[in-house]
Amino acid sequence: MTDLHPDIERILISEEDIQQRVAEIAAEIDRDYKDAGQVVLIGILKGAFIFTADLSRKIHVPHSVDFMSISSYGDTAESIGAVRLILDLRKPIVDKHVIVVEDIVDTGHTMNYLYQTLMGRGPASLKTCSLFKKNRDRLDVPLDYVGFDLPDVWVVGYGLDYADTHRTLPYIAELKKEVYS
Ligand code: PRP
Repeated sequence: MTDLHPDIERILISEEDIQQRVAEIAAEIDRDYKDAGQVVLIGILKGAFIFTADLSRKIHVPHSVDFMSISSYGDTAESIGAVRLILDLRKPIVDKHVIVVEDIVDTGHTMNYLYQTLMGRGPASLKTCSLFKKNRDRLDVPLDYVGFDLPDVWVVGYGLDYADTHRTLPYIAELKKEVYS
């Protein structure tokens, strides 16, 4: 048994379970896009960089990878749900088959913004993929591929952070409450 980092309360999803689920999602995408020709995966930085890398290496249909970076404006009452584009795609997606790749959907504001923004750019199709979603009330956003439901606690690992730390843990873990409260 590996020693856990002192900030970690417990492991929620093991590295093996994550890797198996990523392979299952990749197989679903291979089935769904077998006749699509070319697919564009859009990884959402920073959190989805690890999932995007693993998923893209397990997908066999021809695809390219691009990235966007999104940030929430803040947590004042007026700014809740407002998101801002930090980094845009390198190439247009008009007439392309696009899959947005997120690490987590929490309130749904980020995915909602991405969906509206990317739909406005005229893709041939647009689907959404998130490895994790929180068990909580959220905006009604379309989610085509989802890996795991997570409890509404602070989770880190596999791209998810606390103050930019713990992103590279290979598993998903619950952070101790005293670390963030
Ligand atoms: C996280 C995550 C999603 C977003 C989901 O990003 O990567 O993009 O929050 O939350 P929502 O459903 O409530 O909108 P974060 O803002 O933490 O930035 P990061 O990915 O750069 O860490």
